[in-house]
Amino acid sequence: MRQKIVAGNWKMNKTLEEGNILASEIAGMVADEVKGDAKVIFCVPFPYLLPIKNQLGNNNRIAIGAQNCSEHESGAYTGEVSAPMLKSIGIPYVILGHSERRQYFGEDGKLLAKKVDVALKHGLIPIYCCGEPLEVRESNGHEALVKKQVEESLFHLSGDVIKTIVIAYEPVWAIGTGKTASAQQAQDMHAVIRKHIAAKYGQSVADAVAILYGGSVNAANAKELFACPDVDGGLVGGASLKSREFTEVIKGA
Ligand code: G3P
Repeated sequence: MRQKIVAGNWKMNKTLEEGNILASEIAGMVADEVKGDAKVIFCVPFPYLLPIKNQLGNNNRIAIGAQNCSEHESGAYTGEVSAPMLKSIGIPYVILGHSERRQYFGEDGKLLAKKVDVALKHGLIPIYCCGEPLEVRESNGHEALVKKQVEESLFHLSGDVIKTIVIAYEPVWAIGTGKTASAQQAQDMHAVIRKHIAAKYGQSVADAVAILYGGSVNAANAKELFACPDVDGGLVGGASLKSREFTEVIKGA
C-alpha cells in the first residue's frame, strides 16, 4: 500500500514571517489532530528552505521541498539554485516541471529529463508534474499529452529508480481556478499514468509509484479525491497557504 502524501506548494507567496507562522500552525494542528501516517511536505520558496526546516526541527511527519532546481550541477548560472545546494542543506524533495515553469520559463520534456537526472544524482526525490491545458482536454488529447510528458522525462530511468519518483498530475485548467477535476476524472488520468508505467516497467513497479493530484484541492474535495485507488494524495496550492484549510486537506488523506 502506498503512503499518502500531501504536499503544499506555496509558490511565490508569503513573507518569511508569514511562512514561519503558517508552518508552525500547521505542524501544531497536524500533531494534535491528524491521525494516520500521511507524509506532509511544505514546498517553499528558496530563501525559506533552511529557516523553516530548522523551525520544524526533527519533525518526522513534515518534510521540506524546493519548487525547482537547475539542470546544471554548478557554474555561471546567475540566479539559479542547484541540486547539490539543496542536498547540502538537507532538502529531500524538489518539484520539477510545474506547469507554471513550463509556461513562463519554457521548460520542456528534454530539459526536465536533465533536471530529474541531476536531482536523483544528488539524492533528491523529484515531484514530477504533468497535466494538460484546457484546449487539449477539450479536444480529447489529454491522455496522449500526459503519457508523452511522463515518457519524455521519466522513461529513460530504470524500474528501480522510477519507483522512487513522485508524479503529480495537475490538469492546468484546474490550477488556481477553483475548477477541480472530478474524482472520476482524476482517477481516470491517474490510472492512465499508472497503466503506461506498467506497460513499460511491469505492474509491481507501477504500483510503487506515488501519483498525486493537483488542481484546486481543498478541504471540501480532498477526502473524495484521495479515496480514489490511484490517487496517492495531493499537490496543493492555494489551500496550503491557510493553516486550518490545509490541515483539513491532510485529514482527507
Ligand atoms: O502545485 C500545486 C498547484 O499548481 C495547485 O494550485 O491553487 O489550484 O491548488 P491550486
